[in-house]
Formats: sequence, structure tokens, C-alpha cells
Amino acid sequence: MGRILTAEETLDPGFLPGKLVRRERETQALLRRYREALGRGVAAHHLLTGGVGSGKTALAQRIGEELQRGGKLASLPVHKIYVNCWRRANDRTILQYLLRGVGVSLPDRGYSLSEMLDVLEQGIRRSPRHLLVVLDEVGALVRQETKIIYLLTRAPEVELGSISLVLVAPEDVLPYLDAPSRSSFGVTHRMQLAPYTEEDLAAILAYRAGLALAPGSFSDEVLAQIAGIAAANGDARFALELLGGAARAAEHDGALAIAPEHVRASKGSLYPTLTESKIEGLGTHPLLVLLAVARSLRGPKSTTTTEVARQAYARAAEERGERPVSRVSFWRTARELEREGLLVVEPGERGRSARLRIDEVPASFLETVLNERLAGRRAGKG
Ligand SMILES: Nc1ncnc2c1ncn2[C@@H]1O[C@H](COP(=O)(O)OP(=O)(O)OP(=O)(O)O)[C@@H](O)[C@H]1O
Ligand SMILES: [Mg+2]
Repeated sequence: MGRILTAEETLDPGFLPGKLVRRERETQALLRRYREALGRGVAAHHLLTGGVGSGKTALAQRIGEELQRGGKLASLPVHKIYVNCWRRANDRTILQYLLRGVGVSLPDRGYSLSEMLDVLEQGIRRSPRHLLVVLDEVGALVRQETKIIYLLTRAPEVELGSISLVLVAPEDVLPYLDAPSRSSFGVTHRMQLAPYTEEDLAAILAYRAGLALAPGSFSDEVLAQIAGIAAANGDARFALELLGGAARAAEHDGALAIAPEHVRASKGSLYPTLTESKIEGLGTHPLLVLLAVARSLRGPKSTTTTEVARQAYARAAEERGERPVSRVSFWRTARELEREGLLVVEPGERGRSARLRIDEVPASFLETVLNERLAGRRAGKG
């Protein structure tokens, strides 16, 4: 057990958090719909879509857990079966998996799909219940003319219970389905998850850091820094990876708390080559501007003001016998570096001056790389 990562396993991709921060509305809406249908003894089917790390898998799993734990509906319990179709991408392997889910097994060969389905029904007969089947990453499956979705949505609704589906995919997969299956997912049976906003990510990080990390080992400032980086894609997975990486970097340093520098190190370790190739193409003054910002970020600072960075730039230029460019050119260069993804410019609000930040790599590492590059360039010139 680390000093900071006291419950590292809670950051594993397979860990299902007890609640989904900022997805309360979606969770409740889906639960209500499934409860309402199963309460009448009939199946319900939903398609859940959204970008990478938008919480699709977590939401589908959460709903399954809640329904399973929530007691009987129409006098039958609910049983969740989660299948990742990406790894078992054909009808037979998925049906085998469902069979195991209801406690029966069949030899792999020699049975048709409908025979297998009969055996599934026998399995359910032994212990009647509603099945909630989550087919995650279903895109791979629907692209190969699957029959399983049709067969499951047409499963008889009898005293044995019902078979409900949650289909999960990054994008709409209904166009790939046959018309009868498609009709089971009418307009009201689709939910598209919006990407998380920076605020959402900060709230998610606060909750998950509270589970995974030692108290006092993280600040709102570093969580906001991570949320800012991951907000570009609204991706909670990336945010949590950054958090884990930053915590490990801090432990590696022997620190008791995560500092902005560790967040930069974490991001840098996820994208190191990208940065080097970008730096390759920069002229002397952009290199000096970047160096100045990196220097201004020494110590426990996550951002610096443009004024502090500009003064650092002037000194760095003088050290190398270069004439510093004007204030306007400095600003333009900072903007260009931002477009390259090497700098982040936070606009100044309410009369405060703009601030600069480096998220791509640890500032100290960047300083080393930039110094080497500038030295090389001078040698080449002389
Ligand atoms: N609202 C939330 N609250 C707490 N943790 C969350 C929330 N949303 C997502 N997470 C966590 O973020 C990570 C990514 O979420 P998840 O795997 O559900 O995304 P996804 O949409 O399925 O992504 P992919 O398209 O890559 O499969 C998981 O570790 C999950 O537990
Ligand atoms: Mg997923």
C-alpha cells in the first residue's frame, strides 16, 4: 500500500463506483423505465451511447446492480448479465456466456442458436427471474449481421420472467439492426450521454480521489488542473488515469501530496513522443517563450502570469545573446504555442491578467529538453 494511493484498486477500470456523480438524472431515468416495465412483467430495451469515458459502461453496470439489489418486480427477482461483445463478438459465444450466466452449460458445438435459446429458457425455468442483459461494445457485434439481438428481444414474456437488453456503444447502432429489433428501441428508448464538462470532471475526481487516495494527499487545485486537461474530450477515464499517474509520480518523489508538477509528469508519460516532435519544429523565440514559462512554473505552481513569463523570457533571451521580441510578439507566440498544444492560455477574467500553464509534460523535463535544443541550435549557428 502506497502512502498516497491507499486504495489503488478503486482506480482500476473494472471497479464499479458506488455512485455516479453528475449522472444522477440519467441513472434515475433509466431505473424508472426498467422498474416500470419489469413491474408489469414485460421487457424493456435501451440503447446507451456516448463518447469515450462518458460513463456508459459504469452507468449500464450501475443500473444492473441497482435493479438486482432492489428486490422483486412483478414477484420475480432481477438478474444482471454483463457481456463485453468486443471480446466475444459472435452470437454463439455471447449465448454461451448467457447460458453460464443462468447456470447451465452446453458443449460448444452441435447446437443451433434457437436450440441454445431453448436451453437458456430451461435455465431460467429452474429459477424464474427477469434477465437484464448488458451488451457492451455492441458495435462489433451488430456489424456482423447478428441474430442474437432479434432473438432476445423476441423472447417470450411468460411467467418465467422477461429478458431486457441494454445495448452500449459509442454511436448509434440501430441502423445496423433489422427492422423488428430496431422497433424495440423506439425514440424514447435511447439515451445519449453528453461529454463531461470540466466541472463534472472535477466533481468526479473529488469523489474518486476520496476513495483511492490518502486524506490530505490531493488539493482542489490539482484536481482542477486534471479536470482542465481531460475536459478537452470530456473523458472521465483519462481524468482518472491522470490522477493515478500523478499519485504514482508523487509517491515516486517521496512526496506526501500530489503537486502540479506530478500532474504534468503524468500527462507527459501518457504523451511523451508527441511533445518532442512538436518541439522539433519550433524556432528560437518560441523555444525561449516555452522555456520561460517552464521556468516560471518551478516549485508548487500550476499557472503563471503572462507578465512573470515575459520577464523570464527577456532574461532567457539575453542569456543567449538574442534580442527579446516585443510584448505583442510575445503574446502572439504564446497563442501559437497554445495552438500546438504546448501551452494553455487561461484568459484573465474581471480585469485580472491572463495566466499560462503547461499541461503536456512536467515543466522540469521540458526545461531540460529546451535547454538541450537551444544549446544545439547555438552550436549549429556558430
Ligand atoms: N459519473 C461518474 N462518477 C464516478 N466515476 C465515473 C463516472 N463516470 C465515469 N466514471 C469512471 O470513469 C471511467 C470511465 O467510465 P466508463 O468506462 O463507464 O466510460 P465509457 O463511456 O464506457 O468509455 P468507453 O467508450 O471507453 O468504453 C470508469 O473508471 C468509471 O468508473
Ligand atoms: Mg465502456
